[in-house]
Amino acid sequence: MRYGYFDNQNREYVIERPDIPVSWTNYLGVKDMCTVISHNAGGYSFYKTPQYHRITRFRQNGVPLDRPGHYVYLRDDETGDYWSISWQPVGKSLSIAKYVCRHGLSYSKFICDYNNIHAEQWLFIPLDDAVEIWDVRVKNTGISRRKLSIFTYAEFSYHHIEIDNQNLQMSLYASGSSYKDGIIEYDFFYIPDMYHFFASNFEPDSFDCVRDIFIGNYRTETNPIAVEKGMCSNSEDLTGNHCASLHKRFILEPGEEKRFIFMLGVGDRNKGREIKEKYSKFENVDNSFYELKKYWDDKLSVFQCTTPHEGLNTMINIWNLYQAETCVVWSRFASFIEVGGRTGLGYRDTAQDAMSIPHTNPQKCKQRIIELLKAQTSEGYGLHLFEPEWFEEDDTPKPKFKSPTIVPKPKKDSIIHGIEDACSDDALWLIPTISEYIKETGEIEFLDMIIPFADKGQASVYEHMKRIIDFTAKHVGPHGIAKGLRADWNDCLNLGDGESAMVSMLHYWALQSFIEIARYLGKREDVEKYSALAENIKKVCNDVLWDGRWYLRGITANGLKIGSNECEEGKIYLESNAWAVVSGVADYERGISAMDAVYEYLFSKYGLHLLHPPYSKPNDEIGFVTRVYKGIKENGAIFSHANTWAWVAECKLGRGSRAMELYNALLPYNQNDIIEIRESEPYSYCQFVYGKYHKSFGKARHPWLTGTAGWAYHAVTHWILGIRPTFDGLVIDPCIPSNWDKFEVIRKFRGATYKITVHNPNRVEKGVKNITLNGKDLEKNFVSVQPKGSINEVIVVMG
Ligand code: GLC
Repeated sequence: MRYGYFDNQNREYVIERPDIPVSWTNYLGVKDMCTVISHNAGGYSFYKTPQYHRITRFRQNGVPLDRPGHYVYLRDDETGDYWSISWQPVGKSLSIAKYVCRHGLSYSKFICDYNNIHAEQWLFIPLDDAVEIWDVRVKNTGISRRKLSIFTYAEFSYHHIEIDNQNLQMSLYASGSSYKDGIIEYDFFYIPDMYHFFASNFEPDSFDCVRDIFIGNYRTETNPIAVEKGMCSNSEDLTGNHCASLHKRFILEPGEEKRFIFMLGVGDRNKGREIKEKYSKFENVDNSFYELKKYWDDKLSVFQCTTPHEGLNTMINIWNLYQAETCVVWSRFASFIEVGGRTGLGYRDTAQDAMSIPHTNPQKCKQRIIELLKAQTSEGYGLHLFEPEWFEEDDTPKPKFKSPTIVPKPKKDSIIHGIEDACSDDALWLIPTISEYIKETGEIEFLDMIIPFADKGQASVYEHMKRIIDFTAKHVGPHGIAKGLRADWNDCLNLGDGESAMVSMLHYWALQSFIEIARYLGKREDVEKYSALAENIKKVCNDVLWDGRWYLRGITANGLKIGSNECEEGKIYLESNAWAVVSGVADYERGISAMDAVYEYLFSKYGLHLLHPPYSKPNDEIGFVTRVYKGIKENGAIFSHANTWAWVAECKLGRGSRAMELYNALLPYNQNDIIEIRESEPYSYCQFVYGKYHKSFGKARHPWLTGTAGWAYHAVTHWILGIRPTFDGLVIDPCIPSNWDKFEVIRKFRGATYKITVHNPNRVEKGVKNITLNGKDLEKNFVSVQPKGSINEVIVVMG
């Protein structure tokens, strides 16, 4: 069953049936203000942080689904009939009204045809203003004159989500709303500098600022009394719950269209006036929308591919990058699942996300790296969850009632608790990310930048990297494998002093990146020292972790093997086997054996399971994974993030067809027509897909905010299509399915453009036979940096 399709021409996903089993969401805003919005216009906005500065309210995980939202109601003033431009909240029968939602890159359009009225509501946040624009058009497609009313509705939220949800004492009696000059202003009694506003490009006929008056007792957003009556009550109050409803009556002659602009913004009424003036001009609205389109066009143009695989093209050229950027820009704590109550950045998540976008968002990538380095302790580990603001050097005296836009700064000892709090993998991810950033930008001097540690002291980026590596080297268990500590990448493996194969392999991988940098800088001593360390790790991993056919996942503090053929449950894990290959710990034979075992035990038509068989008995020596239902999340779901490592592993082994088989199984695009099984968005990877051990096998959950996005993008661009930046140029090393005869990539890199055509006449999976740059033969599959502004033709023949 399908609910929509990919419109690649417009870079939109078009939802034709709104009665999807779950909300399909989108993200608006690329800078300071963000709205998470569903295909039914349900959702919420915040400014910079979903925890401290909410704008509109959302009742997560509620029934009816997705309430409230950013709604526009239309009313026929002659009959009293009313509807919303998005299907919900009014929810007219789909047999009499047609609704379409087009989710685009940082905008969503809601389109409705009902009773000879065509209406559209476009939502977007301009690049340079903290305001959400609601661009509404209403057209009479019938033959008679219509008398109509338009009403808006959004529910304001107290600024701090915890207070809004838990301390109504505060929120209900300390927020107020007022109307003047056509502008609704929402304020907080205790906070003199925090306001939100709602305005329009017209003089309203009536308004409501008080939620319960607009909606009416014992009613919902489906049937607000104000809309039913055809008139708001001009309510305002200095207590209670508040909303943004502006109402206007208008007449449409046959064929006539009217356009209305609404603005939901951050700031007081004066700011509202400024914004109202600006966006009352349609031309400014159009320009902002165009600039937003261009923002994404420019980004996407950095890497565009044309391969025989339509789904791969669609995802890589549009949706996969968009999802990866969304994770980096809005971090991981704003969606319909993560509604923003948790602290700031997740160390490992952000470190990985940032690795995927240095080419399209170098500034944000660098910003995130710096924030992560500031949240690294001098011992070398990272603070698992942190707010970047905690480490900002800002000594200006704060007003007594601090602006909530300033995230509270806790005392250092309340956030740094030493090793018992540390996750063993967190900071290791950062080393390859730093390397990728430098390779993309050529900014080698970044390594000299001095950055403070979270607890004490400061050091260069290069020194920070050494501390990260040294920390892991120091914390090994009795077998010489890295300790698992609070958790390794797998949040549910809580090994403490037990040992984690994955972390030793990550350590080895990070070391490869670090040694490459040290070599490039000519730091011979470091190259020698860390190469010796790396060799030792490789040996220990192979001596201790090889189980005969695959690699163990770990060893508990009491010596129990995890992920061994000897185990009854959790015999084989995906992470340690994929990472043995990705990191280079495994030689070719062991790599093949391990990945064949992964395929045999873990593969399914929806992707690779994280482990087999799942746990049924709690065992706290192993961790929380043993307490999760079978087939869900870490206990044997198809955990998407880890799937992407298997694609890289297969490419490293040269098995392009196998890599593609694994890729295809997980690819959301391929599930567009089986939504009765998948349920979630086909344009977004989800954190997990229910595994075969669960009766919901194939159902995907937790869209958007998952490390899958960045890693899937990285795996395809760097390893399947094989285009990898180095310090001096681009390596071109594809690993593709044998049925591909050709593909093309346009890659912008350090100011030059490379038009790369790869031919595969002999239908191989890996290997470059010859390569030319602008007609001249190259010695190896490497193209050095070309002059800025140049356009270069690269022809590659595989064989
Ligand atoms: C979640 C977490 C991530 C973790 C993964 C596996 O996606 O955000 O940090 O690595 O689960 O447990």
